[in-house]
Amino acid sequence: MRHLLSAADLSLPEITEILDLAEEMSTVQNRPVKKLPALRGRTVVNLFFEDSTRTRSSFEIAGKWLSADVINVSAKGSSVFKGESLRDTVLTVAAMGVDALVIRHHASGAPWQASQWIDAHVLNAGDGTHEHPTQALLDAFTLRRHFRRTDPTMIDFSGKTIAIVGDLTHSRVARSNVLLLQTLGAKVVLVAPPTLMPSGVGSWPATATSDFDDVLGACDAVMMLRVQRERMSGGYFPSAREYTVGYGLTRDRLNLLRPGTAICHPGPMNRGLEISADAADAADSLILDQVAAGVSVRMSVLYQILGGADDPASSPVREATLR
Ligand code: NCD
Repeated sequence: MRHLLSAADLSLPEITEILDLAEEMSTVQNRPVKKLPALRGRTVVNLFFEDSTRTRSSFEIAGKWLSADVINVSAKGSSVFKGESLRDTVLTVAAMGVDALVIRHHASGAPWQASQWIDAHVLNAGDGTHEHPTQALLDAFTLRRHFRRTDPTMIDFSGKTIAIVGDLTHSRVARSNVLLLQTLGAKVVLVAPPTLMPSGVGSWPATATSDFDDVLGACDAVMMLRVQRERMSGGYFPSAREYTVGYGLTRDRLNLLRPGTAICHPGPMNRGLEISADAADAADSLILDQVAAGVSVRMSVLYQILGGADDPASSPVREATLR
């Protein structure tokens, strides 16, 4: 794998390999010394033009636990604020000899553009309303673990129904998840008010509805999306209260889910708007598992791209354990 730009670029065997290696990587999280030598001497730059807590810090931790040198560059405090173009910023960072660039940008397609300009590997950490492939991978990792608790032999997601609910129009998380979940064989149901249902949703590999209550009892997982007010220019719904009544995962809706239905949210959450505290903190809420999975999955992806992925026999965790 040269770059990771879109979830659509990943085949089922590639996704399985990333998730399986992430399982191995996750063992590092419980060690007193969280360090593998796999990416020693490699340099990763996190280039973030948009705010981030989880994605940036987990890419940083992932790189550091694999012994790469990780540098964070954010738009605030960089020459971007002096008017430098994306191309000049990307070329400048690449000219220092970095091996991989992790990019988050408000423009859809920015990481792809960057991959055309430089030789370094490019990883998409969220581009506008387009895609967020590592989020979809960490969601798949978390859900696979959840489903395997009752069915340890499960390989793909066939037979599973996953609802993605909320601000679909502005969600790169939803787009990457629809693509990845399709490859994994899941049935995806998109739920949003008509004003937040993306145009062209009919061509997505998913079914769409504006009736959340209608699908509640038929899901194996519900993935709640943040209402992205910063991307909204007008009124997409009459009031926060009405949004919650129609599309929030409220305490009443929680009671309509089948037992064991997984509750996911990529964060940051608007508690009380798209998700109630009862749902966020419920026994079947996987929200903090998603955060932990973010580190393991990003370790796996960085290793696949920068490490000895050409040698399928090598396992960084096993190698390090033998040292
Ligand atoms: C998401 C993002 O930034 O796309 N968050 C994340 O990466 N964990 C979703 C969001 O901001 O709502």
